[in-house]
Amino acid sequence: MKKSLRVFAPASIANLGCGFDIMGLALDDVGDILDIVATEGNGLSITNATDVPLPEDPEMNVITPVVRKFMDMTGNSANIEITVRQKIYPGSGIGSSAASSAAAAYGLNELFGCPLSEEEVVICAMEGENLASGGYHADNAAPAVMGGIVMIRGYEPLDLVKLPVPGNFYCTVVHPAIVVTTKEAREIMPKEIPMHTAVSQWGNVGGLVAGLYSGNVGLIGRSMKDAVAEPYRKKFIPDFDKLRKKILKCGAVAMNISGSGPSLFALSDNQETAVKAQKIFKEHFDFLGIDSEVYVEKVSNKGAKLLPM
Ligand code: HSE
Repeated sequence: MKKSLRVFAPASIANLGCGFDIMGLALDDVGDILDIVATEGNGLSITNATDVPLPEDPEMNVITPVVRKFMDMTGNSANIEITVRQKIYPGSGIGSSAASSAAAAYGLNELFGCPLSEEEVVICAMEGENLASGGYHADNAAPAVMGGIVMIRGYEPLDLVKLPVPGNFYCTVVHPAIVVTTKEAREIMPKEIPMHTAVSQWGNVGGLVAGLYSGNVGLIGRSMKDAVAEPYRKKFIPDFDKLRKKILKCGAVAMNISGSGPSLFALSDNQETAVKAQKIFKEHFDFLGIDSEVYVEKVSNKGAKLLPM
């Protein structure tokens, strides 16, 4: 037996403001590429063919628990060789660990004749997220596998809902050179929230879902507000409130922290505004003397996919 393929999974933006741990969207072109080869035997080797530093110890690589989970769930055994061909920089806040995890889970499923459903592929990918952040969240992994905007209606059992992506939606993503690990960004949050915070948050989640279904851009923008994580996490981003005022003034629908940060994103309903937001992000961090990378990406309906080898 020798089977091989090349697989891509996209970067993603988790939370979308109000949807802490339950909402995420897939971006268009940025993502991870893995080559996966399966031969007779039992084992796993991971080779990094990129310039991006990855853990030397395979036990610390998010791909390892994903492969184990896939073999456990499907009862397969094989010798798996994975080569990482393209990698989003870890810690960038656009779902780097989820892109590798989703690519591994989706690629293995394809290689072994699709024994798992789409939701089960996401469950496999969540093993990588657990290793990276200490929690089983699917808000990056689900869009990285399925594409588009995905809501996690429930975790036990996993219940995923794909939401409509309004046409011509762009994300401007800025990755400032600030280091915030997902673990750190999760630990800074309280374990419980007051009732009035919960009330405003679930009002916004409902508003966002309704806005996406009806294509009501105003409702989408009003709803992308986060009373749960942002008050704690925005401390990592200098002049966060000032920056948001500038971004909204230029016409963007919303600006939020991307996942656990430190990246931020602006959502726009046209490319021109997305490009204006790019300039504002760049100037903001230049003024503060913080290096940053900014790019404009279309919100994508495509998730993980096979590529020619
Ligand atoms: N929902 C997760 C968090 C995403 O906000 O911690 C991590 O990328």
